[in-house]
Amino acid sequence: MNAMSRIIAIANQKGGVGKTTTAINLAASLAVAEKRVLLVDFDPQSNTTSGIGADKEDETRNIYTCLSGDVPVGECIKDTDLEWLKIIPAHRNLAGAEIELVTQIGREFFLRNILLPLKEEFDYILIDCPPSLGLLTVNALVAAESVMIPIQCEYFALEGVTDLMRTISMIRDSVNPSLELEGVVLTMYDERTNLSQQVTQEIRTYFNERVFETVIPRNVRLGEAPSFGLPVLMYEIKSRGAQSYLKLAKELIDHETKSVG
Ligand SMILES: Nc1ncnc2c1ncn2[C@@H]1O[C@H](COP(=O)(O)OP(=O)(O)O)[C@@H](O)[C@H]1O
Ligand SMILES: [Mg+2]
Repeated sequence: MNAMSRIIAIANQKGGVGKTTTAINLAASLAVAEKRVLLVDFDPQSNTTSGIGADKEDETRNIYTCLSGDVPVGECIKDTDLEWLKIIPAHRNLAGAEIELVTQIGREFFLRNILLPLKEEFDYILIDCPPSLGLLTVNALVAAESVMIPIQCEYFALEGVTDLMRTISMIRDSVNPSLELEGVVLTMYDERTNLSQQVTQEIRTYFNERVFETVIPRNVRLGEAPSFGLPVLMYEIKSRGAQSYLKLAKELIDHETKSVG
């Protein structure tokens, strides 16, 4: 049994806070540290899929066809440019699952049933969630052992976070009692503004030690890399964006090692 193995949902129902950027770049950074990583794109917008250079038009082999039971999950796991990083791509058809699942028995457990058997094969399974608290995000939070919350250092940063925390606590009280808060990641930090500093203070006060020390700066390379289908460390390793995600991965690995040992 692999003690380090962990399923982490990257969630925040606000759009544009850095979920996908964190999913891609944290996954790639863990992979270059020779962790076996599976990235699961669980957003119908498929930005993680295209951002890693995978095919978002593959209608037969993606997370939606896994969910529907049409294709075995093994056939939906695809290689990436990084040896240690695999992806299960999303497809826009996944949007339909939100509605189709509602009437199914065990509707909250579909993703868990797909991912649990893969735990032996991977050290980290990262799930990129859509920007809502609907059934897809609930499936991700039920499948996950912990949740990582990216929060953008902007006005109203904490708006909606209480709704997310309430959803997490409802899931803990019902179907996934051991769901942990992996931590909050501060994203798009702009050191030149007082605002970023104020927001950081506010978030650290609210979440205390559950905020990662590593702060992700606003960095143009992070915005550019997905249009080349590359994680930023393959696009410009020296950029502050790439370095910050490598640091975040290290912090996560150390964190796990501590909680295991
Ligand atoms: N640290 C950053 N610096 C610069 N641009 C960023 C950063 N993080 C995200 N972005 C850009 O901001 C937009 C929203 O980020 P994204 O990761 O897609 O958010 P979400 O998945 O939460 O909707 C994207 O265009 C992305 O490239
Ligand atoms: Mg996204």
